Amino acid sequence: MNSPISLSQPEIQQTAIIVVAAGSGTRLGFGIPKALVPLADRSLLEHALDRIQLAGCAAQVIVVLPRGDTELAARAAAHPLKPRCVDGGATRNDSVRAGLAAMDEGTERVLIHDAARALTPPEVFRQVAAALVAGARAVIPVLPVVDTIKQVATDPGHGQPHITGTPARESLRAVQTPQGFHTPTLLAAHRRAAGWDRAQAEAITDDAMLMELLGERVDTVPGAAAALKITTKPDLVLAESMMPRHPEKESPMTEPTGNPAPLLIPRTGIGIDVHAVADPSESRPMWLAGLHFPGDQGLSGHSDGDAVAHAACDALFSAAGIGDLGTHFGTDRPEYAGAPGTTLLAEAARLVREAGFEIGNVAVQFVGRRPKFAARRLEADAVLSKAAGAPVTVTATTSDGLGYEGTGEGLTAYATALVYRVRP
Ligand code: CTP
Ligand code: MG
Repeated sequence: MNSPISLSQPEIQQTAIIVVAAGSGTRLGFGIPKALVPLADRSLLEHALDRIQLAGCAAQVIVVLPRGDTELAARAAAHPLKPRCVDGGATRNDSVRAGLAAMDEGTERVLIHDAARALTPPEVFRQVAAALVAGARAVIPVLPVVDTIKQVATDPGHGQPHITGTPARESLRAVQTPQGFHTPTLLAAHRRAAGWDRAQAEAITDDAMLMELLGERVDTVPGAAAALKITTKPDLVLAESMMPRHPEKESPMTEPTGNPAPLLIPRTGIGIDVHAVADPSESRPMWLAGLHFPGDQGLSGHSDGDAVAHAACDALFSAAGIGDLGTHFGTDRPEYAGAPGTTLLAEAARLVREAGFEIGNVAVQFVGRRPKFAARRLEADAVLSKAAGAPVTVTATTSDGLGYEGTGEGLTAYATALVYRVRP
């Protein structure tokens, strides 16, 4: 996976995700809709929704369910994402269309996702959404093909087909979901396909095919092994082996694999930093939250004194459980002496990711009389978010004249961070 992606609020607002979960799961053969089949302690649908929640890239989430299935509807309704639920149709294509019809009008981008790919990592959703934001009209996650793939034909009267060709493997890709689209283009493709008969509709196995038929360019992003489509029982066993594991919560559908794996529970961290304002005899620039505040006397300390950035670093280290500022930027790392707050934050984020985590967000509040912050808050959020590669928000308050923050002798920054494990 490439560098982490963060999307802005307006970009998230204009993005919807449709999760198609209306299939019957015939090949899995449990006699219940596939999306309801448990994997460890959650149904496949809930796993898919958990990861969409972690991805945080769409304001609207629409789940397409088997008509009349109250159990799945109840699970969807209880999920923190509070998705909109609609009834599906006879084919996957019908279900996608039902989802599209339930979307807010004018939504610019839509991701279509199979609940059957329940363990698709959040980063894949973000990559697809980001490619759309960057201008792609259709984008799909793909993986290289490991098998040699043959074309076949079956002669009348012969049971088994014979080979008619071997496409070059380097030119083949296995396709996954979520598939992302510029909504008006996808709607046009679906309108065109609306009159097709059932056989033609069933031949449409993914939405990108519709775009190809319209002559639209379809771009790709890297897929993920964990995004496998759970179709048969062995797929469920494989998916189980990839799961974060509570030993006491094995799936009733599969044998335990005994594979130790981390939990998909986010971890929070806290960081606090206090800096004194430098003595007036020594003129120092004020750097806070990655910004320079001309005219304000700066904070004392070996570094630039950026208490907001330092608290953010400590919160990240704390969340990942990998020590603190002293551990990583202490006297034995002279290259960080005097480094700007943004440099430290970028390095802290890198270390957290190196330890196997992705960053949900970092929130910082500082308490102090100066600098006057409100007018530069969004600028600070942008600079720090860029450094961390994840959303960082900064707020400010005063202490009603009390303490060193009230007299202006110093300030305190408090930070929290949320991280979640993406690798063992
Ligand atoms: N799907 C859907 N509506 C349908 C058929 C399929 O929403 N009428 C969804 C499935 O729920 C699944 C995705 O499309 O998330 C991919 O379909 P597939 O893997 O074939 O799932 P099922 O149709 O449930 O499985 P089977 O074909 O074995 O019955
Ligand atoms: Mg099917």
